[in-house]
Amino acid sequence: MRQAATTEELRREIATLPRPLVLVPTMGALHEGHLALMRRAREAAGPHGTVAVSIFVNPIQFDRPGDLAAYPQPLADDLAKCDAEGVDLVFTPAAGGMYFPDRSITVTESLLSRHLCGATRPGHFDGVCTVVLKLFNLFQPDAAVFGEKDVQQLAILRRMVRDLDVPVEIIGYPTVREPDGLAMSSRNVRLTPEHRADAPRIRRALEGARSLLQFGERSAAPFLAAARKHLEDSPFLRIDYLELVDAETLQPIAQIKRPSVLATAVFYDDVRLIDHMTLLP
Ligand code: PAF
Repeated sequence: MRQAATTEELRREIATLPRPLVLVPTMGALHEGHLALMRRAREAAGPHGTVAVSIFVNPIQFDRPGDLAAYPQPLADDLAKCDAEGVDLVFTPAAGGMYFPDRSITVTESLLSRHLCGATRPGHFDGVCTVVLKLFNLFQPDAAVFGEKDVQQLAILRRMVRDLDVPVEIIGYPTVREPDGLAMSSRNVRLTPEHRADAPRIRRALEGARSLLQFGERSAAPFLAAARKHLEDSPFLRIDYLELVDAETLQPIAQIKRPSVLATAVFYDDVRLIDHMTLLP
């Protein structure tokens, strides 16, 4: 496995590696969900193409300094996992290695980020778009794979490549879950044992609400009320948001007439977890 730690090293490596090149951008602390993205990338690149992974905890997408400081960074372990997955190239820039100190250009998203995580994490998606566009410019990948767990991120990145004519195919991959249903996340390791035991209720709350579909319910309010009740039964968690939005526009809806997304973010102390469920009319 090749490794590059600076943008210069990366450009040199990229020039020698076979195409197609498929990129998996990550912030490290790799878990089974990331490994599934790497396998999907191999499928897209083929046995003779290149699978590349970036590991960079992007400071400009964090809205809470404490969350950035606490973000796990087990680099040696991450590299071993990439190697075991047959990744060809890993890019591990230093914390200050991606941005000029006097950086003055940022990608701004102004519509799809109005609700959900975009509403409670100001600037988050501008930070994500900026770093992903930079990674696309550096790697010049043919395709890039992202988890569907970050449903808003995926929609925004698809919009970014469309709106800015970025010649990269965006591939989404289904959420990978723990056996008890909790969506895999690098933040799960920061939960206390009590909070970890409680956290599968997030999925159950969304599933419980979804079951209203089979009784013919289509108004948003009962879905939101059912999910909220289940979440609020927890003595531990605090709801950051719970919203029902159109799957394409990500704007709140009053009636389910088209594919929709019931999405939530919750806090266990300072650990923020997200999950969502698609609802089909
Ligand atoms: O999903 C993530 O891990 C990050 O938001 C990404 C896409 C790697 C950008 O920093």
